[in-house]
Amino acid sequence: MLWPALAAGTQAGLPVLQTLSWMNMRLKSLLVSIGICFVLACGAPMETSAPAETYSRQDLHSYANPGEIVVKHVWLDLGVDFAAKTLQGFVTLAIGHTKPDAAQLVLDTRELNITRAETSSDGSVFSEAAFEAGESDKFLGSPLRITVPSGATHVRVHYSSAPGASGLQWLDPAQTAGKKHPFLYSQSQAIHARSWIPLQDSPGVRVTYDATIRTPKDLVAVMSAEMSAGSAGSGEYQFKMPQAVPSYLIALAVGDLVFETMSARTGVWSEPSIVGLAAAEFDDTEKMMQAVEPLYGPYRWGRYDLLVLPPSFPFGGMENPRLTFATPTILAGDKSLVALVAHELAHSWSGNLVTNATWRDFWLNEGFTVYLETRIQELVFGERRANMEAALEVEALHEEMKALEPRDQVLYVELAGRDPDEGFTQVPYIKGMLFLRTIEKAVGRDKFDPFLRGYFDHFAFQSITTADFLRYLDEHLLGQEPGVAEKLRIHEWIHEPALPDNAAFPVSDALDQVAAQAKSWIAGETELAKIAPEGWSTQEWLHFLRSMPEQLAPEQMRQLDDAFGLTKSGNSEIAHQWLLMAVRNQYAPAYARLEEFLTTVGRRKFVKPLYEELGKTPEGKQRAAKIYAKAKSAYHPISQAAVDELLRPDATQ
Ligand code: BES
Ligand code: ZN
Repeated sequence: MLWPALAAGTQAGLPVLQTLSWMNMRLKSLLVSIGICFVLACGAPMETSAPAETYSRQDLHSYANPGEIVVKHVWLDLGVDFAAKTLQGFVTLAIGHTKPDAAQLVLDTRELNITRAETSSDGSVFSEAAFEAGESDKFLGSPLRITVPSGATHVRVHYSSAPGASGLQWLDPAQTAGKKHPFLYSQSQAIHARSWIPLQDSPGVRVTYDATIRTPKDLVAVMSAEMSAGSAGSGEYQFKMPQAVPSYLIALAVGDLVFETMSARTGVWSEPSIVGLAAAEFDDTEKMMQAVEPLYGPYRWGRYDLLVLPPSFPFGGMENPRLTFATPTILAGDKSLVALVAHELAHSWSGNLVTNATWRDFWLNEGFTVYLETRIQELVFGERRANMEAALEVEALHEEMKALEPRDQVLYVELAGRDPDEGFTQVPYIKGMLFLRTIEKAVGRDKFDPFLRGYFDHFAFQSITTADFLRYLDEHLLGQEPGVAEKLRIHEWIHEPALPDNAAFPVSDALDQVAAQAKSWIAGETELAKIAPEGWSTQEWLHFLRSMPEQLAPEQMRQLDDAFGLTKSGNSEIAHQWLLMAVRNQYAPAYARLEEFLTTVGRRKFVKPLYEELGKTPEGKQRAAKIYAKAKSAYHPISQAAVDELLRPDATQ
């Protein structure tokens, strides 16, 4: 088999060479990153943004001290031990002083077993260094303080990860498609990289990296980087990421993986039994890249491959650079759920190229990405589908907002003393997207598109705050558009709950028609047999089901199921929506399917609402407990945490 990356691959550079080129870049990057860890004077003119002190570069979710000593490059050397469920080895960090007399490097860790620390002033001769692990915080983990002599350019830490590391999932063979080999994957966003690598785990710190990963001989390792050496059966793989990325984008997976090419620069990795299916489903990926490049600039990461994970993956997708991680639940067989690929691909601009500097600025990653996603969908699949998808997303936002406290309805979210995962709601995604649509509508695409392209070029490979964006917006767009800033009411968008009434909502006639049909059946004016769903897309099905009243009679549930075979649906989104209705209406014929769904799929977006719905009745609670007892061990810690929270005996419903 040919490895996709080998053609363009080079061997990992020697540490000392890396350091020299890093030194050349250092002055420039220092100028750019001056102010890291200090409150940034926002300086945004006009009334469009909040007072200067409102925005901060200070990362509440990291102990690291990049304002004193900053990590610039990471070399990983790790062995993968499936029996012990641990990664073991060492990491070497190239450091630079931001404060000349700083004598301590502070790293983030979580449950790491640190055995030794060393420093070096040339990258090849290392000597023992004193280190101290601070107290552990339940969200942040613990700081690792290493004494660094003056002149030191490198720090090395020997360690192993804990079997329960929050950023890793170790799967037994039974939890994979092939059932023969174990599987390991990482999920570092938001602050889980620290559970498998001691580093400065803040999105405001960017590093290049190299890695050597040693695996059992029959398994293959992949990373969010170029594979520069290694082949099936070799048991040793080398990777190189020459572009500076934030730590949450460092990713690793190990399993029985094969690769299938889709185009010269795109392909799919997965277990052998689904690789063909996945390559067919994601066939439009190259088209998506070609749609987005003329708008927002060249794809800057070389290859764009997808890795389809086992179904326990807690997210839909994760935009690890060069290698998006994706749930198998989007393999619908008809390409109907590939908006997720558009989304993760879009992160190659919004998120990976221009990155949120702190988790409070998360909407800069996700809001921009959902906006780009809808533009890609429009170019590749047409306006009708793009509007349907955007309208469904807004519907989900409205639904979720009903249950959110006002403080979580704002784009610039308050996260002091909180887990950044608490900011993971539809708000940064969909309210963020609506904000950008609203600006687009106010100035027109002919101005907004070049503005965004300029934004990506200007901030490429930087981590920025909400203030940086607002200042750029003022200087490069709104400054030339008299009256538009006032009309947009930016402060309200960024800092106030609910949706401003100037929001440019997507409109979908197709979905409106489907809703009308649903209503007419409910009103007894049409029979199901007269509704003609042939040719309905997944989006139309979802809207049809969501347009039903909360409570349906048993007979109505049965009629829907008989007419459309919903309990049998193999489309994960449709099945999920139907199962929610089945739980809500105590529709027993779907209970076996419910159990099957919840014991095979671990995606939090599906799992959490189903348990939540089950938790609303005593009978449902019992069913939930029974299913969860069976399913729990296969869920990722992230999904487990969500369900544990719901099933607490004292959980408020
Ligand atoms: N970057 C996110 C996933 C994420 C966010 C993981 C925050 C951990 C913390 C990814 O791009 C994403 O948004 N995935 C969505 C799918 C998308 C189509 C909206 C998901 O997984 O649901
Ligand atoms: Zn995203």
